[in-house]
Amino acid sequence: MECRPCRGDEMGLLRELFVAAVMELTGGEYSLEQRRAWVSSAADKVEFCARMEARQPFVAILQERIAGYADLQPDGLIDHFYVAPWAKGQRVASGMLQHIEELAQSKEMTTIHSFVSLTAEPFFLQKKFVVVEQRIATRAGVTLPHALLQKVLTLKSTRESLPR
Ligand SMILES: CC(C)(COP(=O)(O)OP(=O)(O)OC[C@H]1O[C@@H](n2cnc3c(N)ncnc32)[C@H](O)[C@@H]1OP(=O)(O)O)[C@@H](O)C(=O)NCCC(=O)NCCS
Repeated sequence: MECRPCRGDEMGLLRELFVAAVMELTGGEYSLEQRRAWVSSAADKVEFCARMEARQPFVAILQERIAGYADLQPDGLIDHFYVAPWAKGQRVASGMLQHIEELAQSKEMTTIHSFVSLTAEPFFLQKKFVVVEQRIATRAGVTLPHALLQKVLTLKSTRESLPR
């Protein structure tokens, strides 16, 4: 699996992946009504593509296909983090998070955080995030429980590798 910046002409594919991931992977934790409300944020394709392009996401490529996408904002927020249903359980999310942590460290960020679904929370906890706060979002008049999770990054010291 490799991660690379998402091209402008691929934003529509991210929208399809987002809808598929929410509708097909989160049914254990969210009702159909909740999942429909969640994906309603992508109802307007032009608006979704413009919003995502502004976030400068990257894509994870597996078997020459987009298997997932995510982003890292300047304040350390991971806004979107989604894996395609066909790629679930193949460590795509693990690879994307590793990529995010490397990006964050290259920008000398000390923490990263995300508003995480109940579905993804066990994954993030396994990756050493901690719950900061339980929250309830409202989308299209429907409530969606989720949580703010944060991870403190250990900055790699470059001092040891400097010439004496
Ligand atoms: C949750 C999600 C990101 C995980 O992606 P994935 O590529 O399947 O995860 P990985 O294969 O990298 O899994 C890594 C580890 O986390 C565990 N894990 C992944 N999803 C899990 C879940 N829902 N519950 C418990 N453990 C989970 C895996 O079992 C694996 O454990 P292991 O290292 O002991 O084998 C993905 O299923 C998804 O997109 N879900 C729906 C959308 C969503 O909620 N996105 C997050 C929005 S904040």
